[in-house]
Amino acid sequence: MKANELIQKQHRLVEDLFDQFESARGAQKGRVFEQIAKNLVAHDAIEREIFYPACEQAIEDEDVLGESLVEHGVVEFCIFRADMNQGKEEFEQYVTVLKEIVMHHVKEEEKSLLPKAKRAMEREQLESLGEQMEERFEAAMEEDFRPALRDALDQVLAGKTKTQKRGARNSRSASSSRNSSSSRNSSGRKSSRQSARA
Ligand SMILES: [Fe+2]
Ligand SMILES: [Fe+2]
Repeated sequence: MKANELIQKQHRLVEDLFDQFESARGAQKGRVFEQIAKNLVAHDAIEREIFYPACEQAIEDEDVLGESLVEHGVVEFCIFRADMNQGKEEFEQYVTVLKEIVMHHVKEEEKSLLPKAKRAMEREQLESLGEQMEERFEAAMEEDFRPALRDALDQVLAGKTKTQKRGARNSRSASSSRNSSSSRNSSGRKSSRQSARA
């Protein structure tokens, strides 16, 4: 399956899980929430580790990627807070806010990033990314979501950008903008803005 199709398929599944959460009662709500959390943490991993770095290479517009990563950080924070509040009065409020942020992010991703990726990449590349992502997703779904979530949140709180490839690029951009303001390019400017916002 092509990477963009896999992402859309997973978005639909999470939307369906949010609907199930709304109609669930009692302890069932906790079980559905854990499915939502598991799926979102695994989805974050495949986008952050595989899809976004590939987009970074293929697409000129870095704003869309920067904002996506910031939104992933907010989603993770909401999952964490909801999980901490399971069984408490605030639990549903956190899940409601989580849903709103996820829906916003999904809409933006499908309106902006996925069409750009589809235009910028060959079919073979989308197929091969899709395969890698499917494999990574399945591995992540077999793990407890909490350590991976904690790790991602630690990185957000440390102000790190969230892909290793981006990290390497950012340190180059940061040093080039320190050394030469006249040669500062748009990627350097966007990278520092992203670090500040993260
Ligand atoms: Fe997504
Ligand atoms: Fe995303």
